[in-house]
Amino acid sequence: MRSSLRRPRRLERLTVIGGLATALSLGTVPASAGGVQLQALPGSNLTAATADAPLPDYDKEIVGRFDSANSVNHIRHLAVDIGPRLNGTPQEREGAEYIGGILKSYGFKVTLQQWGPVSTKRVAKVTSSDADLPGGPNWQMAASASGKFTGDTGVKGQVVDAGTGQSATEFPADTEGKIVLMDYSTNATVRNTAVANAVSRGALAVVLAYPTGNSAPPSFTLTTPQPGIPVVGGGSAHSAWLRGLLAKGPLTLTIATNEYANPMGTNVIGIRPAVGDPDGTTAPIVMVGAHIDSVLGAPGAHDDASGNGVSLEVARVLSQYPLDKELRIGGFGGEEGGLLGARAYVNTLTAAEKARFVGEWQMDMVGTPYEPARLWALTPNGQSNYVVQEAYESAARVGFDGLRNCRLGQSDHQAFYDVGIPSSLFIWLDYRPPAPPAVCGPTGGTYVTEPQYHRPTDTMDNISPERLQTTLDVVGGAVAHNALNAVTVSALSDAGQPLAGAQVRADCGDGPRALGTTGADGRLKAVFPHITCDFSVTAEGATATERGVAISGDHAVKVTVDLTKPTISLTRPADGAVYTLGTATTASYRCEDNLSGIAGCTGTVPDGGPLDTSSVGFHDFTVKAVDNAGNTASRKVTYQVVYPWQAYFPETMSGKAGSAVPIKFSLGGDRGTDVFAPGYPASQQVACDTGKPIGPAEPTRNPGNSKISYGGGQYNYVWKTDKSWSDTCRQLQLKLDDGTGHFAVITLR
Ligand code: BES
Ligand code: ZN
Repeated sequence: MRSSLRRPRRLERLTVIGGLATALSLGTVPASAGGVQLQALPGSNLTAATADAPLPDYDKEIVGRFDSANSVNHIRHLAVDIGPRLNGTPQEREGAEYIGGILKSYGFKVTLQQWGPVSTKRVAKVTSSDADLPGGPNWQMAASASGKFTGDTGVKGQVVDAGTGQSATEFPADTEGKIVLMDYSTNATVRNTAVANAVSRGALAVVLAYPTGNSAPPSFTLTTPQPGIPVVGGGSAHSAWLRGLLAKGPLTLTIATNEYANPMGTNVIGIRPAVGDPDGTTAPIVMVGAHIDSVLGAPGAHDDASGNGVSLEVARVLSQYPLDKELRIGGFGGEEGGLLGARAYVNTLTAAEKARFVGEWQMDMVGTPYEPARLWALTPNGQSNYVVQEAYESAARVGFDGLRNCRLGQSDHQAFYDVGIPSSLFIWLDYRPPAPPAVCGPTGGTYVTEPQYHRPTDTMDNISPERLQTTLDVVGGAVAHNALNAVTVSALSDAGQPLAGAQVRADCGDGPRALGTTGADGRLKAVFPHITCDFSVTAEGATATERGVAISGDHAVKVTVDLTKPTISLTRPADGAVYTLGTATTASYRCEDNLSGIAGCTGTVPDGGPLDTSSVGFHDFTVKAVDNAGNTASRKVTYQVVYPWQAYFPETMSGKAGSAVPIKFSLGGDRGTDVFAPGYPASQQVACDTGKPIGPAEPTRNPGNSKISYGGGQYNYVWKTDKSWSDTCRQLQLKLDDGTGHFAVITLR
């Protein structure tokens, strides 16, 4: 389960977004802040992200802020501090007030709705001054209409165990003035006898609790009314816990019985208006619901304090962002009485209001440790809908593949469904879908609840922080995604083609964010708080940016990426150009971009700058261009710088083999004696008639007999011919270190 969410959560929070805690504790951004609220956004005080480490997209950022530990604290307050919250009792209202207070602190406008009346409720509040009550400190039992209603003060006394209460021997001698615990019998006569026996021995109060069977507290009446003492019914957990405590020593209980005649139920509704729609008349509504009430006798930690714990954590995190959707958090009373509060609420919605609903995400039993339970999105008709679909997409984003959809009503989502609002129940349940070929649509499945369901044992032990976290990430993530503004970025090439797999980034003033890559259609949907963003798209190494896109309402942004390389026109030096040493000439080139027209251009020397002709030989000249999108191009040419050559020897000569032949030439000045290319001068025999080479060229033996000297503005190369060359023709080859070659043919006798 945890592993499928691929996160060491705590670690991530500390290392990746360290310093965030400080930012969050500064409080919330008021909804009215709106617009470009960059400075106030939590996280904006992080050190600027580098291009290599962009911030996560807002979906990831928000999910990263959900912390089920906060949910657990809310659940504990509701289920432990307040305790069971039966519809129509003060505890249901206390729950509503607690939720309302938290929502107010997050900047929500809060309304407590009263509706009803509902059926009369008779309840006992059972507490202890000398023992920690398991699952307590507030127990709830059924108060029998046949007993006394003490009011909140109640009666306080020690507990004695009288077994079945059917025979005298079962009653301790000191029963008088004590609270008598006896087995609850399903037989009305047996029950009546037990209570009458206790009353005749002077009991202060009577507790009839199921001896076994993991039952919820029973309501009952007696054939003999007992108006003098409170008579209450407890569940089997109560009897087991009481007998366990009694085995350790004396136990004092206070039992306060109250009858609430036709009371009103309570809902709490928190509204956070959208930026730009403070009066709530036009903005789409994203709603999260949970029920406040629990069944008689049950602390309702899982059912359904857990739902409110998740709603409140979603509210906390979302309250930190300016949003263009209206966010509503509903805490409904009377769900266990038949969806009473939710039905009362949807009845208050006008047609115009209903039409604004994006959907209702109902959180009911959102994290039991009960192993067979899985996360289900259950709809009244078993069909998927927008709310379910969005949860699936959110699950995919966080890497959770355990979400399933099937059919069930039995919670407040039914009330929304019935008035045409897309809704789904999110629940951790051992739900068994119908066997194929039956489908969830018409048929629906069966389910097995955890053993604590609707029992006094639905305590904090029935809460799994890990599963709550999954619910927050998956369902809370879906809610957040819908509460944010959506932008569809379309990446297009300069040729007008959609660019698949293009990297999309945004900078909304709080650092660059990696939004992901475009799909096959060249599109990517991303969500944002209500701010102005710059969007960049990178494809094939080229980046295009649209700046200052105002995000309001779902809309599309087109970004055209220039994939075309810039062009380079290089006029001077031309490839292969030859310049005489020391010639003064300038470089001339231009770089152009197909879209913007402009491209950066860098050459070996700047455009218009002097070409280097100060040394002989071949010179590379390079021009590099880069356009606005980052496309590059480069061009390389080679030019040659040569000596000003002047020959003072004829192209054809004759002489005697073995003689020295003076070869005079000028290079326009004294260039030193090291002016030949390696291996030169050389000579090669050629055919006297055709001039065609015969055999290989041989370097002249130099220094040896041949030598070069400079004097009087001229070079004199004294070429010593070989005696063995008599009666041949040879070509003298003078290749210079400027890359030029000069030749003469001599006929030797
Ligand atoms: N949290 C339950 C929903 C539920 C449904 C739990 C199915 C387990 C299985 C809800 O609070 C509840 O108990 N609903 C009632 C029905 C309601 C209309 C009174 C139920 O399922 O009995
Ligand atoms: Zn329930």
